[in-house]
Amino acid sequence: MRPTYMKPIGVGIVGCGGIVLQNHVPGLALCPAARLTALCDADAAVLARAAQHTGVAATFSDYHALLAHPGVDAVIIATPNFVHAPIAQAAIAAGKHVLCEKPIAMNHAEAKGMAEAAERAGVRHMTAFTYRFVPAMRYMAHLVRAGAIGQPYHFRSCRLQDWGTRAVGWRQVAKLAGSGELGDMLSHRIDYAHLLVGPIRRLVADDRRFHDVRDGQVSDLEDWVAILAEFENHRASGVLESTKVATGRGEGARSQDYCEINGTEGSLVFQLERPLELQVTKKGESVLRTVPLPEEFLKWPGSPRDPRVGDPAFTFRYDQDFEFIQAIVEQRPCVPSFVDGARAQAVMDAAGVSIREKRWVEVPA
Ligand SMILES: NC(=O)c1ccc[n+]([C@@H]2O[C@H](COP(=O)([O-])OP(=O)(O)OC[C@H]3O[C@@H](n4cnc5c(N)ncnc54)[C@H](O)[C@@H]3O)[C@@H](O)[C@H]2O)c1
Repeated sequence: MRPTYMKPIGVGIVGCGGIVLQNHVPGLALCPAARLTALCDADAAVLARAAQHTGVAATFSDYHALLAHPGVDAVIIATPNFVHAPIAQAAIAAGKHVLCEKPIAMNHAEAKGMAEAAERAGVRHMTAFTYRFVPAMRYMAHLVRAGAIGQPYHFRSCRLQDWGTRAVGWRQVAKLAGSGELGDMLSHRIDYAHLLVGPIRRLVADDRRFHDVRDGQVSDLEDWVAILAEFENHRASGVLESTKVATGRGEGARSQDYCEINGTEGSLVFQLERPLELQVTKKGESVLRTVPLPEEFLKWPGSPRDPRVGDPAFTFRYDQDFEFIQAIVEQRPCVPSFVDGARAQAVMDAAGVSIREKRWVEVPA
């Protein structure tokens, strides 16, 4: 444990848009060992709003200036995807610990470069695969590891949202986002599939763009993506689907977000609508039973968060920042790290090749 006389870990945030106010500011507020010390955004209005919201006085339009601020020990990167890698590399070169939003880079080479640079520099590195912190998803991973379903046969995930034709800003522009639904939502599920079943060995993928124009703005990225995967682990199968155009299915935490795993001994089902329970069944049974989560899974180990306060479909997200700060305090690797981010990126790259070339693709080890 960190001695109480040590100074707080100063955190600077680069990119102060939607996800920072929703996840990172309340997450950092939970961390007694951290203090938010500096903010950076390229958009003056966004920066002013974040400064007012947080009371942080040190504000910058250029991330190099934030990195030079003496009060910054660690950085959270929450910009559009195309600038994640250069900002992370500059932060690592300046000796800062880095929590980077997903997808951490535009391709696997960039992501691997970030993981290697962070390891060489000896700084903590973390990928914001936020759904790792959903209590029921953590319990599901625990049960799989403990052998509750035996040998996995199938992993299945289905993310159905209805974003209609509304503009989604940089998310609909290939040179800013890298990919559409693949990086935006499916990257989370690729990471979760890795956690539950292990590495994906090969895959075939497809995508669709149903709207070339969103609210009058050109979109050159996919609205729907699906991957059919084979895992290294006993050739278990994976079926992963994600869409922004499932009409009438709602959006965010109130839309369909479903994961299922079937194994030789049983099956487990998760839905984000019910983040504090799992559905389970085992060999010899034929119906799902709902089980509440054991107390120790309601929050991340050690998190000061009261799991009974707030909307459980949102509050789990705060534990992510706690894990980042705690890993710095305890001088241990973050979970999940840039290595996990780079592994997911290798699968995303392989999916891109499969979509373009219409064939099965091996994922590099
Ligand atoms: N982990 C999750 O569940 C989750 C959820 C939503 C978004 N995200 C990720 O978070 C990141 C940000 O998403 P968002 O929804 O907050 O986007 P946003 O558009 O609301 O915010 C991004 C901000 O970055 C700023 N910016 C752009 N270039 C910059 C630069 N060079 N220097 C400083 N600031 C710059 C923009 O002005 C903008 O204010 C993306 O990578 C996205 O994929 C993750």
